[in-house]
Amino acid sequence: MPAIAVIGAQWGDEGKGKIVDLLAEKVNVVVRFSGGNNAGHTVINPYGEFRLHLVPSGIFYPDVACIIGNGVVIDPAVLFEEIEELKKSGVSVERLFVSDRANLIMPYHILLDGLEEESRGGSAIGTTRRGIGPCYMDKVGRLGIRVGDLLDKEVFRERLRTVLEQKNRIITKVYEAQPLSLEEIYDKYCHYGEILAPFIRGTDLMLQEALENEEAVLLEGAQGTMLDVDFGTYPYVTSTSTIVGGACSGLGLSPAKIDRIIGVYKAYSTRVGAGPLVTELCDETGELIRQRAHEYGATTGRPRRCGWFDAVIGRFSARINGFSEFALTRLDILDVLPSLKICTGYKLDGDTLTNPPSNSTLLAGCEPIYEELAGWQTDISALRRFEDLPGKARSYIRTLEELIGCSASVISVGPRREQTIIV
Ligand code: GDP
Ligand code: IMO
Ligand code: MG
Repeated sequence: MPAIAVIGAQWGDEGKGKIVDLLAEKVNVVVRFSGGNNAGHTVINPYGEFRLHLVPSGIFYPDVACIIGNGVVIDPAVLFEEIEELKKSGVSVERLFVSDRANLIMPYHILLDGLEEESRGGSAIGTTRRGIGPCYMDKVGRLGIRVGDLLDKEVFRERLRTVLEQKNRIITKVYEAQPLSLEEIYDKYCHYGEILAPFIRGTDLMLQEALENEEAVLLEGAQGTMLDVDFGTYPYVTSTSTIVGGACSGLGLSPAKIDRIIGVYKAYSTRVGAGPLVTELCDETGELIRQRAHEYGATTGRPRRCGWFDAVIGRFSARINGFSEFALTRLDILDVLPSLKICTGYKLDGDTLTNPPSNSTLLAGCEPIYEELAGWQTDISALRRFEDLPGKARSYIRTLEELIGCSASVISVGPRREQTIIV
């Protein structure tokens, strides 16, 4: 059985957690392949309300195996906290597995994330300060410490000693901050290693065996296409390949195994952190959306910037990922608006663009070209069939489908699992 990927199509927080929790009912394995605890995936189901940062959103089904793949960076303290919270709510984590190849977020990554952000001053990225960028820098710089390294304390100590020496030189000489203690980190991470040990596996092999055994696998994307390190609004991006291509390297999975690629789009745009957002609404409509949707970051609590749906971005991310279909979330948030705008192109220096420029400064200078549609102004949150949606809501969806270039297979009209229309 082939794999199905669920990928954020905008700037993250599209509602991937809800969609994965919903689709996981029919699969055997759910896998995270990139990012770390910069992600915050909200799931509301009969077990309660959860904000998952590392554990895959399939964990609520006792028969579903959940894998944290090699492409993910892991802060063990955050993972353990999450596991404890799940257990307290009666959710079993017996089928949770962590790749031996996943890189660990170390205390110096978190410290350096903050120090780097502060040194950027007015051009700060607005990272989540969870150590994500510095950890991936070390991974590609071949200075990373991986989950599997914790299993041999002597090897781990030697590795940590050499890496920390270098980090402490940067921390003290470049940033004039206090050095970190080898002993403290060593003791703490040895303890983490003992707790982690039963979860550690060669997850690439597990995944391949699952696919060979005709099991259905769901790939849970983190962040969104516009935060991708290559195709996002660089440098206002995260440090990973958030697109479907990242799933292959982040898991050890052949692209030939991915059958369906579902893009998750929010019915409007949001972004948390700095960087261009062409359709941003810095007015009362933007504020109305933020309040109605409670658009505050699931990880950092920061207010999310809100704007109209940007179909230039929508089409771009569909092309980069090759979406076979899409899930549209938070359509109910638009229930109260008398009219809705969709950005169909950009104006830049007298030219009309239908593709986003790769340069963030140019993108920030683009003016949106809008198509205006009438709002439906009725509560749709209790509806469960496409044909029951008001005509104006169906027109909005059809317009998005045409502009994005593929069809909606799921429409979400509320945060709870059952508040969903399967088309
Ligand atoms: P993720 O990071 O992509 O998983 O998304 P987040 O969990 O960070 O943010 C999505 C937010 O939207 C969460 O608060 C969800 O509970 C909520 N949500 C998801 N789908 C819907 C929907 O269709 N309607 C409403 N009102 N809220 C939704
Ligand atoms: P989910 O999976 C929204 C943003 C940060 C910042 C930029 C870089 O919940 O959709 P980082 O800490 O990754 O170095 O920050 O990326 N960012 C997200 N925004 N949703 C996310 O994840 C995000 N993960 C990172 O706000 O702008
Ligand atoms: Mg989120």
